[in-house]
Amino acid sequence: MSKIFVDACKGKPTPYTPVWMMRQAGRYLPEYKKVRAEAGSFLNLCHNPPKACEVTIQPLDIVGVDAAILFSDILVVPNEMGMKLQFVEGEGPMFDNPIKDENDLNSLLSGSDAADRLSYVYETIKLLKAQLHERDDDIALIGFAGAPWTVSTYMIEGQGTKTYNLCKKMMYSDHKLLHKILQKTTDVTKLYLSNQIKAGADVVQVFDSWAGAIEPAKYDEFSWSYMIQISDYIRENHPDTPIILFPKAVPQFIPKVYGDFDVFGVDWGTTMAYAKKHLGDRYVLQGNMEPCRLYSQKQTTKAVQKIQKVMGTHRHIFNLGHGILPDVPVENAIHFVKECQKVSKK
Ligand code: CP3
Repeated sequence: MSKIFVDACKGKPTPYTPVWMMRQAGRYLPEYKKVRAEAGSFLNLCHNPPKACEVTIQPLDIVGVDAAILFSDILVVPNEMGMKLQFVEGEGPMFDNPIKDENDLNSLLSGSDAADRLSYVYETIKLLKAQLHERDDDIALIGFAGAPWTVSTYMIEGQGTKTYNLCKKMMYSDHKLLHKILQKTTDVTKLYLSNQIKAGADVVQVFDSWAGAIEPAKYDEFSWSYMIQISDYIRENHPDTPIILFPKAVPQFIPKVYGDFDVFGVDWGTTMAYAKKHLGDRYVLQGNMEPCRLYSQKQTTKAVQKIQKVMGTHRHIFNLGHGILPDVPVENAIHFVKECQKVSKK
């Protein structure tokens, strides 16, 4: 049976425009918090396939989205390359031993040595596929990874950063080392996504959440070209699997986007009209409601109608323009999903 979300990714007609939300499994759902508490911690939850499955499926039942996204995190990749990861309550992710020099990089696992260690993710996907199949509601499963640049910012800074000092010091004073870090991360990520597809992921998305931290003249060199290495690898090895690339906050790069992938994720700082003008003929567009509109149902309805007017009922997937925030009322997320499905119904 063909899935509405997969069809939409391929630009085929669908009965309405499918919708999902980045970070749709997470802390805005009390049911998620309960399962995370049972698992003991966020990382334990990622390592526990049955529980990771449970929280992946929660937004399908509670919010009514048209696709499931695997529950995991972009930082499990450097974690399995050998960097010790912790999620500190209120602080976010932290690595004990950020990369300072080539020796640090060389001590990390590469290629399939790292990708094979992510077996708990592949296990979760297999379980999910079996559960989704039983439900008979045509739901696709999205696998994902972080872009090498976004993941490397954590590997170099050791944590989230506002200024990216350490990454940028490397970018401008030791670009060879930064390229080596990006390439090693790319090589693991290619295999990781390929393994996710082999385990059953129907679509894959690469998140470049911190794309906007790079100056426009350097974005292609330090990020997009690595995203394209990944999408080329997936295209070659899994030609039927749609690929979504989401680079956040790089409006100046949009006219220069290149590559053989299916869906371009539009962030909330870019208008759909602008993205459509430059990319609409070549890629299906995904997005892009400002996630904070979810605090008001009235503002949500307005934004959904506006996006639909620009995009029509074809070559579009509804989503937020970045992740849903933890204090959004669940009923407002439900409202968003219903409005998207209603406004685009043929
Ligand atoms: O989208 C989904 O529902 C699937 C699961 C998912 C998570 N993280 C779970 C998560 C996905 C796709 C991600 C991607 C991710 N992780 C990104 C890219 C997307 C984006 O939002 O920009 C980034 C930059 C990360 C790194 C990360 N993980 C940060 C900065 C944090 C802490 C901040 C935060 O949101 O809590 C995390 C933790 C994290 N990843 C949580 C969840 C549900 C919260 C952990 C908890 O339960 O406390």
